[in-house]
Amino acid sequence: MKTVILIGAMGKMGQAALTGLGNHKVITASRSGKDVDYKVDITDEGSIRNLYEQVGHFDAVVNTVGQCEYANFTEMTEAQWMSTVMSKMMGQINLVRIGQDFIAESGSFTLISGILNVKPIPYAIADATTSGAIDTFVKCVAYEMPKKLRINVVNPTVLVEAWDVYGEMMPGFEPVQGTLVGKAFERSVDGFLTGEVIYVDA
Ligand SMILES: NC(=O)c1ccc[n+]([C@@H]2O[C@H](COP(=O)([O-])OP(=O)(O)OC[C@H]3O[C@@H](n4cnc5c(N)ncnc54)[C@H](OP(=O)(O)O)[C@@H]3O)[C@@H](O)[C@H]2O)c1
Repeated sequence: MKTVILIGAMGKMGQAALTGLGNHKVITASRSGKDVDYKVDITDEGSIRNLYEQVGHFDAVVNTVGQCEYANFTEMTEAQWMSTVMSKMMGQINLVRIGQDFIAESGSFTLISGILNVKPIPYAIADATTSGAIDTFVKCVAYEMPKKLRINVVNPTVLVEAWDVYGEMMPGFEPVQGTLVGKAFERSVDGFLTGEVIYVDA
């Protein structure tokens, strides 16, 4: 049994990830702190450090947070770009950059991206761009990870559980069950993969 920090646990992707972490002691966290063990804001370095210090020993970090702004490229402001970059891209990179000092030897990081960087749709340019950045970050940084650490990213299509929110934006997409996406997180945490983009598509 590993100790796994699951960030964004009460969100739709967090709940999907949780279905794949049944063999482990899961410590949950989110920005509001509602119904979870710890409060953390992934856009704030001090908050990330504070989470890791408070938890103490842990073997894996699973992040399912990456807040994105949705708008046409022609209308998207720099503020909208920056808030997406600071959450979905830098927030996740900082979880790894700061976490490498705290996580146990041979531990793992699992990040979140999303299928829109390979299957573009209108309004989703910031999500797609930062998802692509995270996929690239994981593939390349795996070669540099200290302490025999592993790192992967789950790149899923839309969840059945989120279809009511995103379905209208995504004609021609087939949603997948959260439990299937949960298995991708399980493969990352329990397997030996590193530097992988684990796609879950229908
Ligand atoms: N849903 C899908 O079908 C789907 C498919 C592919 C990829 N994704 C990606 O998965 C990620 C999560 O999506 P979701 O649908 O799960 O969103 P969601 O249901 O809105 O959940 C987001 C979670 O993130 C937490 N959160 C937001 N900002 C945070 C921050 N700065 N620090 C810490 N926690 C924060 C929220 O916690 P509090 O409310 O407690 O603050 C909430 O638990 C996104 O990047 C999305 O693009 C989603």
